[in-house]
Amino acid sequence: MPEQGFATVVAVDGPAAAGKTTTCLALARSFDLRYLESGRTYRIIAFEALQREIPVDNTGKITGLCDELITESRSESLLTSERYAPEKLRAAPVNVAVSTVAKIAEVRQRVTSLIRLWAGAQTRCVIEGRDIGTAIFPAATVKFYLTARPEIRAMRRVRQERAASYENVLNDVIRRDAADMSRTVSPLVAAEDAIRIDTSELSLVEVLSRMSSACRNRGLEINR
Ligand code: CDP
Repeated sequence: MPEQGFATVVAVDGPAAAGKTTTCLALARSFDLRYLESGRTYRIIAFEALQREIPVDNTGKITGLCDELITESRSESLLTSERYAPEKLRAAPVNVAVSTVAKIAEVRQRVTSLIRLWAGAQTRCVIEGRDIGTAIFPAATVKFYLTARPEIRAMRRVRQERAASYENVLNDVIRRDAADMSRTVSPLVAAEDAIRIDTSELSLVEVLSRMSSACRNRGLEINR
């Protein structure tokens, strides 16, 4: 099945809060796949830039920071570093800074290499992000593009994160989508061969059932 000389890769892309993490974790369990949340790495870089008071729009300094973080975390890979608590990486200032960091071509190149390296060491994996099926693994085994109306995505995220206000989350979702879709380097767009699922009117079970049948159709076996 892996026609591309690397692991079986399930690529799950889509806008902010589209339910990628929840569905990827469920697929990972069902099909025995290793899971990678690629957005976390962009969030780590943005978080460290804020901590170190490095302006996030300074391409040279942010690229330097990225190199430093990669070197520092060599033994565990920045992608899977356990040093960062989710609530720190999901704080409002990081949500704002991450869109700017993710626009930088040099940073994207480095994160892309880390992801390819990580995937090369797996047999089967599911990776979520914005450019997995378009730029990082154009020959992925299965590609999904998950989306939903912004109001629904914001409502789901408020329910999930409890503390945040609906208005703030909706504004953040709309702002990040616009930034991700309009950037020059690997903008957020559905791959032509991605299976598009609008989850606005679907339950999690229905979404998972569609994703699971597509995976089975591409030869992935259920983990019993
Ligand atoms: O979980 P949520 O959908 O809110 O976002 P995330 O997956 O944690 O990604 C945070 C940000 O990282 C996105 O808004 C993008 O700017 C950037 N990102 C990216 O550019 N490429 C990826 N493959 C993943 C994330």
